[in-house]
Amino acid sequence: MNVLILGSGGREHALGKKISESSQCKNLFFAPGNTGTKIVGQNINISLKDFDKLKEFAVEKNINLIIVGPEAPLVDGITDSFKNTLETKDIIIIGPSKLGAQLEGSKDFAKEFMHRHNIPTAKSKTFTKENISEGYDYLETLNSPYVLKADGLAAGKGVLIIDKIEEAKQELNAMVLKKKFGDASSKVVIEEFLEGLEFSVFVLSDGESYKILPSAKDYKRIGEGDQGLNTGGMGAVSPVPFVDRFFMQKVDQEIIKPTVEGLKKDGILYQGFIFIGLIKVGTEAKVIEYNVRMGDPETEVVIPRIKSDLLNLLKGIGDGTFSEKDLNISDEAAATVMLVSEGYPEKYEKGFIINGLDKDCDSIFFHAGTISRDEKIITNGGRVIAVTSFGKDIGEAINKSYKNINEISFKGKQFRNDIGFDL
Ligand code: AMP
Ligand code: GLY
Repeated sequence: MNVLILGSGGREHALGKKISESSQCKNLFFAPGNTGTKIVGQNINISLKDFDKLKEFAVEKNINLIIVGPEAPLVDGITDSFKNTLETKDIIIIGPSKLGAQLEGSKDFAKEFMHRHNIPTAKSKTFTKENISEGYDYLETLNSPYVLKADGLAAGKGVLIIDKIEEAKQELNAMVLKKKFGDASSKVVIEEFLEGLEFSVFVLSDGESYKILPSAKDYKRIGEGDQGLNTGGMGAVSPVPFVDRFFMQKVDQEIIKPTVEGLKKDGILYQGFIFIGLIKVGTEAKVIEYNVRMGDPETEVVIPRIKSDLLNLLKGIGDGTFSEKDLNISDEAAATVMLVSEGYPEKYEKGFIINGLDKDCDSIFFHAGTISRDEKIITNGGRVIAVTSFGKDIGEAINKSYKNINEISFKGKQFRNDIGFDL
């Protein structure tokens, strides 16, 4: 099969490496990719906004399957665009329709979906400029802290958690009336604060049946002890020790199954990954958010633990044999630690030479923000390299990553020293 992966992060490198290991993979392309994806395939320089060019390329190279890495092209309707074009309609697209992508693209849509299908989540209401005064009243009915969420995509910054009610009211005003997050916050979801342990589950669905991939926990804050600004993710571990088989069965019955059935009932075409952000409150699981793609850096621990041929599974989504295929998961644990640029997630410099990536060691170096210039690999983003390792438990895996991090050097290299320590 000829495969095209869209995106340029550690997630795409990890997916691509796995796909390249399949005996069914003939040609593998990435748009736009990074220096790591060039090890396992070919990079092409086409913008993920340019659906026409992507379609032209897919026809020219006889692409059979496309994995959409990030959410933006899905929210923009890339799947519908390919399916509505005669020459590209038979290509298997791993990623939902534009309507399905609203599960991530609109918090209000996701909440309505959960309420409609009885999926446990925080109590909430949505407000716009038409009913903002009811929003102030609604805040009065909740306890501190207050959770305010911009409805639309806001580059991971659209969720505010605020202690004081007066400040929460001001922020509601700023979001809705002063467009603090642009059009993304013209609608705001206010929800009850949930206290508990966060984790994520990943599901692969063909729209009829589904398979549950390994669970993972990511570390979003820049600083140790979960302090400081939110990032794309500073590290991840899989599996999550507090998610045992019994609890997972509950998550499956109360959340995963109703999600896949709900999509079907609503007539939403959804073939692809569903990333469910969950919180364990006491013995209950509640949904914090849906994402319509794999997580990054969760992919760098989830995908390497899959023993089955991933491309064969994905192919089954296209030819109706998905439910018959096995998904085997390794018993080994995995951990990844992100090496980031100094200054990230705020302003940082790029263009520093990275040394040590060719060292032979017992970790995998997944490239995130890297690019090649004059035969050198240089930094090209905030998150630069994900160092993934395996072990008999997450402790062993984490220790390996921390040992092998020393192999890699670039100016300003930063990382969190406490990934997985809370577990
Ligand atoms: P989201 O973009 O919806 O995932 O929210 C970003 C982060 O805010 C989550 O990963 C949680 O840590 C936190 N968060 C969101 N909603 C809630 C909630 N209702 N209660 C507690 N924390 C929340
Ligand atoms: N690591 C969180 C995300 O991919 O959204």
